[in-house]
Amino acid sequence: MNQAVLILIKPDGLKKSLTGNILTRLSETKLEIVAAKIARVSRALAEEHYKHLKDKPFFGEIIQYLQGELHDRKKVLALVYWGKDAIKKCRDLAGATNPEEAEPTTIRGSYGRITTTGVYENVIHVSSNEDEAKREIKLWFQPDEIIVDLYPQKEVTRKECKVKIWD
Ligand code: PPS
Repeated sequence: MNQAVLILIKPDGLKKSLTGNILTRLSETKLEIVAAKIARVSRALAEEHYKHLKDKPFFGEIIQYLQGELHDRKKVLALVYWGKDAIKKCRDLAGATNPEEAEPTTIRGSYGRITTTGVYENVIHVSSNEDEAKREIKLWFQPDEIIVDLYPQKEVTRKECKVKIWD
């Protein structure tokens, strides 16, 4: 079954210059990239992304982590991969969420670490299931930024809305 999955290469992955390695590993899946962008992560975006974890003791730190405040890299690379069993394929390559438990050959097993305060710096985020993938993709991308029609969309006219255009 064709699925979409959100991948984030987190600020530690960017700081460690792992983008190429991670994309090469992900290309083993033979999935198609249907959206990609470098994104600044506002506090509101980070908190919405991890909203199911807001009561966890590490919530504050994962928000700072995703925003790049722990790595002096205030950006993430956000990607949508699409194809057969995309979520399982990407999660298998990523390895366990806890980098100490991840197989050493996986992305997190190879490059992740646990901070002294117990927070996982696991280099990439991968949506955990189809519902989460849909929620996360709609949070990180607008319909026009994705080259396939993944979810229902509608056209609206926003007269009062200011947008930036090239000068
Ligand atoms: S998952 O991966 O979404 O299925 O798991 P979930 O439990 O929903 O997400 C947990 C995210 O919090 C990050 N994190 C930690 N989890 C558990 N324990 C500790 N100490 C911890 N520190 C950070 C974890 O990396 C998950 O984020 P993502 O971005 O999915 O890796």
